Amino acid sequence: MRVAVYSTRPYDREYLARADAQRRHDFVFLDVRLEAATAAAADGAQAVCVFVNDRVDADVLRALHARGVRLVALRCAGFNHVDLAAAAALGIAVGRVPEYSPHAVAEHTMALVLALDRKIHRAYNRVREGNFALDGLLGFDLFGRTVGIVGTGRIGSAFARIAAGFGCRVLASARRVNPECEALGVRYVERDELLAASDIVSLHCPLTPDTRHLIDARALATMKRGAMLVNTSRGALVDTRAVIGALKSGRLGSLAIDVYEEEGDLFFRDLSDEVIHDDVFARLLTFPNVLVTAHQAFFTDDALAAIAATTIANLDAFEAGGQPLHPVSVERLA
Ligand code: NAI
Repeated sequence: MRVAVYSTRPYDREYLARADAQRRHDFVFLDVRLEAATAAAADGAQAVCVFVNDRVDADVLRALHARGVRLVALRCAGFNHVDLAAAAALGIAVGRVPEYSPHAVAEHTMALVLALDRKIHRAYNRVREGNFALDGLLGFDLFGRTVGIVGTGRIGSAFARIAAGFGCRVLASARRVNPECEALGVRYVERDELLAASDIVSLHCPLTPDTRHLIDARALATMKRGAMLVNTSRGALVDTRAVIGALKSGRLGSLAIDVYEEEGDLFFRDLSDEVIHDDVFARLLTFPNVLVTAHQAFFTDDALAAIAATTIANLDAFEAGGQPLHPVSVERLA
């Protein structure tokens, strides 16, 4: 099957080619992001393969449909960027990679917590410049601290296990209780109670109309003064302007993010020779107590191999029976 692969980076090419060892699919690798202006590049393809910042709205889906595309194969778990109702109306199937390595994201989350707490990002630069003073590097023990996890699915529960391993008291708020978390001793509470009691709040729920700006000015005012906020899920779970206000006032102690609400124009490319036009993002980078990584939580060898294998399985199943192995449908939003 001919597949137009959007937002391709060298590693996507390498892992997809390796997973399709029998060369069953004809991949057309495109560097560009999928959007209305680039949909024409899918001409002649039966499927498009896309990532987190590709645009898969109704206009783009109509343009793809007119060119013969009948499958959108996501190389990611989240599907908040796909208009599922429009896809269903056009008869375009949508497949995703529901699970590749929850550990990759959960472990990166803990890496961010530890780096931000112990100021590793600052210490690294200081030591290289011959500054061995400790002033400004004071951290806190994780042992005995309270970690609040919003969303205890695959990634949230993996992070709960890691936090429990550090001796943290773990609270959770979620739509459904996860028995694995309960067995770890995680206590489920209302979201406001979690925000008020946690030293570290980590977000692991999907982005939906319900969860957009889940952390807004009100939620920040509910949080413990000086707490740490971590977001490795989706940028728009957090109202970035409200977070900047809370950092300026000192209400929010520190922030670690792997995702940003307007990351589509920034992440996954080298802009080091260019001027950043996003003033909100640029302001975030000025805080000493803010740590940003550019959507790399998933980026491990294990995860890339699993993403490629599941993507090929979705393409194979669609070719054989008209449905991807892991379909996403409008009902999933209910
Ligand atoms: P999952 O579907 O296994 O778990 C999501 C959990 O959130 C479920 O337990 C669900 O009940 C809960 N939930 C849904 N709405 C909620 C709400 N309003 N409040 C509290 N909990 C709610 O998903 P998984 O695999 O754990 O992934 C979580 C998110 O992580 C994905 O949606 C994606 O956005 C993000 N992600 C980020 C990556 C990165 O590289 N930074 C990579 C992979 C996923």
